[in-house]
Amino acid sequence: MIKHCHNNHTIYQGDAIQILKNEISDSSVDLIFVDPPYNIGKDFNGLLDKWETDELYLEWCYEWLDLCLKKLKPNGSFYVMTSTQFIPYFDIYLRSRVNILSRIVWSYDSSGVQAKNFYGSMYEPILFCVKDKNNYTFNSNDILVEAKTGAKRNLIDYRKNPPQPYNNEKVPGNVWDFPRVRYRMTEYENHPTQKPVALLERIIKASSNQGDTVLDPFSGTFTTSYVAKKLGRKSIGIEINEDFVKIGLRRVQELTEINGEKLIREPKIYEQKNIQQPTLFEPE
Ligand SMILES: C[S@@+](CC[C@H](N)C(=O)[O-])C[C@H]1O[C@@H](n2cnc3c(N)ncnc32)[C@H](O)[C@@H]1O
Repeated sequence: MIKHCHNNHTIYQGDAIQILKNEISDSSVDLIFVDPPYNIGKDFNGLLDKWETDELYLEWCYEWLDLCLKKLKPNGSFYVMTSTQFIPYFDIYLRSRVNILSRIVWSYDSSGVQAKNFYGSMYEPILFCVKDKNNYTFNSNDILVEAKTGAKRNLIDYRKNPPQPYNNEKVPGNVWDFPRVRYRMTEYENHPTQKPVALLERIIKASSNQGDTVLDPFSGTFTTSYVAKKLGRKSIGIEINEDFVKIGLRRVQELTEINGEKLIREPKIYEQKNIQQPTLFEPE
């Protein structure tokens, strides 16, 4: 295990279960966001996201799910993702341990052909849970979105006395539309399952306050810690892969070098000299 501390932002390189067990105090974290390997065969820099059996994957997940709940404060919030095929198991496991307040669908479009003989997968599920449904942070005013229907058409709500125009803003529902991180987006890093800044912004703004501690045990490109820092929260990120940890050191701790190695974002193909930016084809 390697630990890098910088101001209020800690990055651990190592195994999530070991670090949760040995390094993080019980009941110490305000918000945990977990985006684990999904057991669907992605290649995380040589580490294959595929367990021998579904049972073994779930056994592994239940161990870190329990640890996350142990590390969460009594008024803390917990967001967890996995693939559509495994989220029902998480749901059943968690519903007797915490309060699942929302079953969120993160929906996105794709320019590529997803499937020809069945309906392609265009969403990822997220469970939003709290330990105490009478005592948790939810800053609804910080995440308001445009209320399209009534306000756009200048409708009047005659059920109110006196009648009033419809609101222009509302708390988002449980279907969230955010584009996936694409190669040409400025936030793109070299990782197969990077989550968008916008998605983490909504979660961190809603479910934590300035100065709170946000933990992500499978940090990948450290989107969670990056956004937590931007929003004045403290962060703890854990990641097993050294190359991804280097992304975190650059993105979150703003290091330019580690052990003599320069930490720079790889230039994109079209940023390299003499190569024109593509206009027609957008690689995903
Ligand atoms: C789905 S990705 C997370 C992506 C991340 N949310 C982001 O925005 O970039 C899961 C990450 O877990 C890491 N990982 C896999 N097994 C791990 C383990 N046992 N402990 C810590 N990290 C692990 C992988 O290297 C991968 O980067």
